[in-house]
Amino acid sequence: MITLVDERLETYAVAHSREVPALMDELRDHTYAHVDLPQMQVGSLEGNFLKVLARICGAKRIVEVGTFTGYSGLMLASALPEDGKLYTCEISPENAATARTYFDKSPHGSKIEIKLGPAAESLAQLEGPFDMAFIDADKVGYITYFDLILPKMRPGGLIVADNVLWSGRVLQDAAEQDESTKAICAFNEHVRAQVDLDKVMLTIRDGMTLIVAN
Ligand SMILES: C[S@@+](CC[C@H](N)C(=O)[O-])C[C@H]1O[C@@H](n2cnc3c(N)ncnc32)[C@H](O)[C@@H]1O
Repeated sequence: MITLVDERLETYAVAHSREVPALMDELRDHTYAHVDLPQMQVGSLEGNFLKVLARICGAKRIVEVGTFTGYSGLMLASALPEDGKLYTCEISPENAATARTYFDKSPHGSKIEIKLGPAAESLAQLEGPFDMAFIDADKVGYITYFDLILPKMRPGGLIVADNVLWSGRVLQDAAEQDESTKAICAFNEHVRAQVDLDKVMLTIRDGMTLIVAN
């Protein structure tokens, strides 16, 4: 495992980014107290980053893959105008229920629709165009999700893929890699192979790739 950013620098960056609403801290505390694998939650720095990206895009329609307890979804929804819409895909009814509870406590929750079920099925049914997409679910599904989303993006729309450095495990020898690591490496190659798409891989948190649709 490789820590990408010194923890003290991460704390400094959080302190110099916009303070998140108290509800986000409540959601973080609830998730860490009651939900398995709470570290899957994006947190305030990445949440703020997603919100800023959505605002730069002028996003009105966003699709998210991987709701979990709703942190990234709420940050994205807070960037949407009143008539904006976030569709967020989640396979776990328990996670979706927690997310809905927090969405309903937020002034932005009415902009969010949870699509419960396997994301590939939900994405196949959703109609574009989308201004922004955030992929943050099971790693073996990333290529499928990306391929389903790309044709539904408006030209100039932004796709964001999370965990693309996978705590540094992308550097492991192929023989050592588990299924998720292989899947992330395959996704990174899949994106790299699309030479006509502008993209950049960032070392924020666990690695994020930004891809601009043509
Ligand atoms: C890394 S977490 C998402 C974290 C979330 N973006 C946040 O900030 O709190 C991944 C989520 O994807 C969900 N998931 C896994 N496989 C899925 C699938 N096939 N379809 C839809 N959701 C899936 C998991 O249940 C989990 O809640």
